[in-house]
Amino acid sequence: MAEADKPAGCDCAAAQPPARRWPGLFITLEGGEGHGKTTQGRLLAERLRGRGYEVVLTREPGGTPGAEALRQLILFNQAPLSVRAQVMAHMAARADHLDNLILPALARGAVVVCDRFHDSTESYQGHGVAGGDEGILDFIQKQRSLLGHEPDVTFLLEVDEAETMRRLRLRAAERAAVRAGMKADRYERCDHDFHQRVEQGFKAIAARDHTRVVRVDATPAPEEVCAVLLGTLQGDGLLPQPGQLPCGTGKAAQP
Ligand SMILES: Nc1ncnc2c1ncn2[C@@H]1O[C@H](COP(=O)(O)OP(=O)(O)OP(=O)(O)O)[C@@H](O)[C@H]1O
Ligand SMILES: [Mg+2]
Repeated sequence: MAEADKPAGCDCAAAQPPARRWPGLFITLEGGEGHGKTTQGRLLAERLRGRGYEVVLTREPGGTPGAEALRQLILFNQAPLSVRAQVMAHMAARADHLDNLILPALARGAVVVCDRFHDSTESYQGHGVAGGDEGILDFIQKQRSLLGHEPDVTFLLEVDEAETMRRLRLRAAERAAVRAGMKADRYERCDHDFHQRVEQGFKAIAARDHTRVVRVDATPAPEEVCAVLLGTLQGDGLLPQPGQLPCGTGKAAQP
């Protein structure tokens, strides 16, 4: 459509499905501790599988045997690690995760739902650990662009502090009942100010990269939040219509 033919206020480009770098769809879930990433990852995977898509649900740091081994080192080893070493360890785990799981899945047309990715490195190590130090943020950006493969869409789950604390207390009680003595990881042990910086980090990323990052109020019940995620995927043309599955198993889709 010629520029002059466009109706006022019409963003015609937005109505087109985005250009694809791979046959599949790469979704990441981001946000602070207890905001519901794992809950939404499971629900979203279940809903999409119910519609006939092949879904690979995975997490970071980890997702492959090599990256899970690095996860233990990153999160649970007691040895201090400099912030640059932490960033590179996360990136090493991510490289293995991309090469051995995410990219093959995207190439065969699967929907990959990944619990944390690049944005968590920037928020946790860049803003949380390094306090927003420009040199470290630049170091992270360089590593990030070196590794590449940004997600097609990122859902940033947002919950206020009081609700976050309520959820974390609840989860701690659940965990204590299941597995006594489960240790807090390297970042869960950090103080309130650290987590405030992480929140600011996520907000800064969302402001900078607003075409990729969709901020979602994750306060409502899990099913309601998941409906927003699904609605966004459909509304933005990221998911094909049920019954037309360029990515997926080709099994009968449910409405
Ligand atoms: N929408 C929701 N409403 C109420 N409680 C929720 C909601 N989503 C998740 N929860 C509960 O909050 C707790 C934390 O959720 P979840 O583990 O999914 O968060 P997370 O973002 O994955 O946390 P982490 O970053 O620590 O892995 C769990 O006990 C979960 O059952
Ligand atoms: Mg989780």
